[in-house]
Amino acid sequence: MAANHDVRVARAFHDATTHTAASVRTSGHTLEWDIKPFPFKVYTDLPAIPLPRQFDPVELDTLRALDPDVRLESGPLTLDRLAALLYLGAGVTRKKTYPRGGEVLFRAAASTGALYQTEVYVAVGNVPDVPPGLYHFCPGDFTLRRLREGDVRPALAEAAAEPDVARRAATIILSALFWRNTWKYQARGWRHLYWDSGTMLANVTAAAHGLGLAPRLLVGFVDADVNRLLGIDAEHEAALELVEIGPVGSAAPARDTVDEIRHDVVPLSSAQVDYPALREIQGASVLATPADVVAWRKAVPPARRRSPSTLVSLPAALTDAGRGLGDTIQHRGSSRRFTHASLTAVELATTLWWSTRPVAADVPSGLVDVFLIVNAVDGVLSGAYRYWRQEHALELIRAGEFRRESAYLCLEQPLGGDAAAALYFLAPLDALLAAYGNRGYRLANLEAGLIGGRAYLTAYARHFGASGLTFYDREVVKFFAPASAGLDAIFVTALGRAARPSW
Ligand SMILES: Cc1cc2nc3c(=O)[nH]c(=O)nc-3n(C[C@H](O)[C@H](O)[C@H](O)COP(=O)(O)O)c2cc1C
Repeated sequence: MAANHDVRVARAFHDATTHTAASVRTSGHTLEWDIKPFPFKVYTDLPAIPLPRQFDPVELDTLRALDPDVRLESGPLTLDRLAALLYLGAGVTRKKTYPRGGEVLFRAAASTGALYQTEVYVAVGNVPDVPPGLYHFCPGDFTLRRLREGDVRPALAEAAAEPDVARRAATIILSALFWRNTWKYQARGWRHLYWDSGTMLANVTAAAHGLGLAPRLLVGFVDADVNRLLGIDAEHEAALELVEIGPVGSAAPARDTVDEIRHDVVPLSSAQVDYPALREIQGASVLATPADVVAWRKAVPPARRRSPSTLVSLPAALTDAGRGLGDTIQHRGSSRRFTHASLTAVELATTLWWSTRPVAADVPSGLVDVFLIVNAVDGVLSGAYRYWRQEHALELIRAGEFRRESAYLCLEQPLGGDAAAALYFLAPLDALLAAYGNRGYRLANLEAGLIGGRAYLTAYARHFGASGLTFYDREVVKFFAPASAGLDAIFVTALGRAARPSW
């Protein structure tokens, strides 16, 4: 397996999984419905522990929940708060039954193709009424199942090279089951692991912030040690990110060894297709030792580019949406169709501002640039722009009517052209790989997903619509040239007035 510093792996994977007009027409991939993966991970040999269904509704205004400068009094991590956090991050929020049969249980956070490959675990240390241990959260029956007894925080702290993990009340661990996504998206599904976990982390960090749990995201950790702790087989499932939550207490005493665990689970499907390219990029972006994690975190990110002298100013972002976070998430749903009605400049400015505020983390944010095509925003000339987050202003790249082009760039999906504005996330991928190795590729996809997820929250808080979108990679870069020189396309989020209100 290649090492993290051998960045040819990430570059080759990215190039091999770009979408082109030819690749989508000739892929020949069809969906095999009889092996569609089951959407929930269910442990069959462990008792289910029901979570309380009456929990804190998280009424804090959505925009304040996205504001890192809002300081909330932190309280204990109660079971009630943990249930609220798990529900708003990954819970089942609505059910849709289709006329020809079949149903989809939609979740709090958007996910590519509604496939929901992101799994959630909790390392509990100090939660009243919950014995210390490692738990898996099942959104299907809203339960926890205990995979390990005893306090695993010291082992997790060592794997994350972060002593605070042993003292914080709990740590949420997100993983992904590859096959649940590759069933439809093949090897490109690896990118989705990070877009979708980023979208979920937008909810998790906002909800934890709103509950006064002071979340902190960790992207650096010794992959093999965390996977071993979770008892997962890294050929099929891998830990992606950790989030420390709750008050700091005294550290639990370290345990000597982490025994191997293997619990029985309901199989995802009767057969699976292996995508070696996915396993290769995941394996080539791991960190091997706590010392590697410490060194990796000290990497110097690519220098920020200087904004041009002429910028189009934006109105100040709203600081209150008038809708609590819990209510926003409960009613969120991706827009399936946009009217051509315009957004206001304040709505666009509010989305851009709040979706790009930093999240407390072990690595810096601002690694991804936000470009946009404005089709219909009152007071903003239609055209192609780049958003400068520190200046909170737009750089005009090219004025013009680009609905047709935007739909084309978004893999010929009408949503991209019907949107009032489409946000295109681009990153200096080679520079990120030079700084962070192959794991820099994880960072780019993750930050784009996080911004997209926060754009969803802002849009739904203000009663307009949003949807994540996929795209023709090279065409996007070409479209934004020359401003996009040295950048690669990472992800897209469309904003607009939904033809139907969200659920
Ligand atoms: C990262 C990401 C990419 C997505 N890409 C597309 C897309 O290309 N086309 C589309 O119609 N919807 C896309 N979606 C929306 C999903 O299909 C949608 O989230 C999923 O069906 C669940 O529905 P919900 O968001 O309404 O809960 C994307 C969502 C995410 C989070």
